Amino acid sequence: MARKFTITSALPYANGPLHIGHVAGAYLNADIYVRHLRSKGDDVLWVCGSDEHGAAITIRAQKDGVSPKEVVDRYHLQIEESFKKFGISFDFYHRTSSKLHHQTASDFFLELYKKDSFIEQETEQFFDEETQMFLADRYIKGTCPNCSYTEAYGDQCERCGSALSPRELIDPKSTLSGSSPVLKKTTHWFLPMDRHEDWIKKWLEVGVLDGKDHHDPEQWKKHVLGQCRSWVEAGLQPRAMTRDLSWGVPVPLDQAKDKVLYVWLDAPIGYISATKAWCEEQGKDWKEYWQNEDRQLIHFIGKDNIVFHCIIFPIILKQHGGYNLPVNVPANEFLNLEGDKISTSRNHAVWLHEYLEDFPARIDELRYVLTSILPETKDSEFTWDDYQARVNNELVAILGNFVNRCLVLCGKYYDGHAPDPESIPTPSPELQKLFDENLEEISKAIEGFRFREALQHAMKGARIGNKFLAESEPWKSIKTDPEQTKAVLYTSLELVQHLTLALEPFLPDAVERLKEMLGDCATEVKAGAALGKAAHLFKPVDDQEIKVQKKKLEPTMESEEQTAEVENISFNDFTRMDIRIGTIRSAERVEGADKLLKLQVDIGSEERTVVSGIAEHYTSDEVIEKQVCLLTHLEPRKIRGVMSQGMVLMAEDEEGRLRFVSPDAPIAAGSTVR
Ligand code: 2FM
Ligand code: ZN
Repeated sequence: MARKFTITSALPYANGPLHIGHVAGAYLNADIYVRHLRSKGDDVLWVCGSDEHGAAITIRAQKDGVSPKEVVDRYHLQIEESFKKFGISFDFYHRTSSKLHHQTASDFFLELYKKDSFIEQETEQFFDEETQMFLADRYIKGTCPNCSYTEAYGDQCERCGSALSPRELIDPKSTLSGSSPVLKKTTHWFLPMDRHEDWIKKWLEVGVLDGKDHHDPEQWKKHVLGQCRSWVEAGLQPRAMTRDLSWGVPVPLDQAKDKVLYVWLDAPIGYISATKAWCEEQGKDWKEYWQNEDRQLIHFIGKDNIVFHCIIFPIILKQHGGYNLPVNVPANEFLNLEGDKISTSRNHAVWLHEYLEDFPARIDELRYVLTSILPETKDSEFTWDDYQARVNNELVAILGNFVNRCLVLCGKYYDGHAPDPESIPTPSPELQKLFDENLEEISKAIEGFRFREALQHAMKGARIGNKFLAESEPWKSIKTDPEQTKAVLYTSLELVQHLTLALEPFLPDAVERLKEMLGDCATEVKAGAALGKAAHLFKPVDDQEIKVQKKKLEPTMESEEQTAEVENISFNDFTRMDIRIGTIRSAERVEGADKLLKLQVDIGSEERTVVSGIAEHYTSDEVIEKQVCLLTHLEPRKIRGVMSQGMVLMAEDEEGRLRFVSPDAPIAAGSTVR
């Protein structure tokens, strides 16, 4: 019988682009999990969306000098698009600034309020006198009392994951003005978590809820339970669920004007509103996904979100009543990058949208490498050298090579058809058993949230296939024993077909291409059936490509010192400029304009049309094959009817002539200028 699942992935803050650390935390693993369940015919709903409230957003807005609305609109779209391009197959991607979400979160709060789940309390909170603002959450920073991290936020330490309140921080400072805050009275609504200690303990430690078996704690990751345990053991404290801020879901109480819900109250409710939005679209009942006890709720998150999903949100759901609690929260640890923590502020990150721009045809390569190193039980590290090695030595040399050899040989010997052996060797019971066992071990590993192991199992078929071809040498036996060759290649095709099943959750794009190559044998190998065109599944990554990527990370090492010297713009502002070396491939005058040349500039990944005001300084012939610096992300503009997609950088000499700014030796088109 089909099992039922509601799967969620942490709502990313819409305050910046996604990087590979996000991807490896809560999305790629969930995508593999969900694709696997779907392939088994289970009933799955997977929701996510942008987290558009909280100080993360308003601080970004302040820095960029724009409104919070502009921030979330911009990043929501960018994030959604990156997910899509990367093959992250949510059923629904919602956003918390939507009306439906505001209503859902507001109703949820009211229901809890009516049930006396909160305590209203006047307390003293930190206040910044310079900016006249209460300092909640990310508006205050200080030293974490648990791990001594000096950059801990007022609600959370992102290093050790503990949830904090501002009063616990050592030496707190306002992130707005840098000043030491004063204490000022204000009223808030607190969730008295201490009241819930007993059942939370029982639920987490033995998996029993309301006297009934709920889940098996043995299936939970040790580090997740460990973090929860240390939290509960330290004693749960009342926690404010409202804030003195203007951006967020307004507190639906007359006596709470100018207050909003704490972002960590409204964000997880975002999973529910996303479900409602999807159900509205599909004409379904959202309650089926949250209130049907036969359905398993699973939250994919990063480790900094553990307490919110394993303690606070469950308390909220249970207080409301009628909701399922998660049966597992398979949180991942952190992914580091080239020997250092990923850092947004230092721009030490591999940004997903940039990767997708740089390597539009290498989606599954990144999926593969990240799956191989997912920080499932401890922090792990991404390096570009390792990326290159895994792509070249595993995807190209093992998987791609096997598939290619098999299809090329069938192309050559059987005119692009599956061989038609006298006695068909498959489905031999032995081979079938091997395939079944392989799918079973992949399934077990995925369902145990061991995706790295699962991928290893999935690649087995390709390893076996290569060995099989090397040992049976069909390219030799074709002359001596053509019947034997047919049998070998028939079996190899079976193996390739099996790989489409084994690898689909991990490499959906490559599997699509693989199926095309298999043609009429895509779902089942049939003797004599037509195959598609053989092609290379993956292309090797060369040293130059890696060099370019490493270079992107280089300046970030000294970014702090450099920003200190620059007066007018920050280093981050500079790195936001995407300037690339382009090679001009063709040029022509723009009709009716004396000064304009229309250029085709090759920037490696694509060719750009650029209209440049240089016709009085260069003839079109002179510029062909010249290398120039191109500002690639200047807003496209129509000039004399031609859409110009970038700006060529020019320097002016003493006589007022414009000259190209060019590299002093030929260099790969597309190289970044830093
Ligand atoms: O840590 C974060 O990025 C949060 N925006 C995650 C929210 S998860 C959820 F509860 F919505
Ligand atoms: Zn800490």
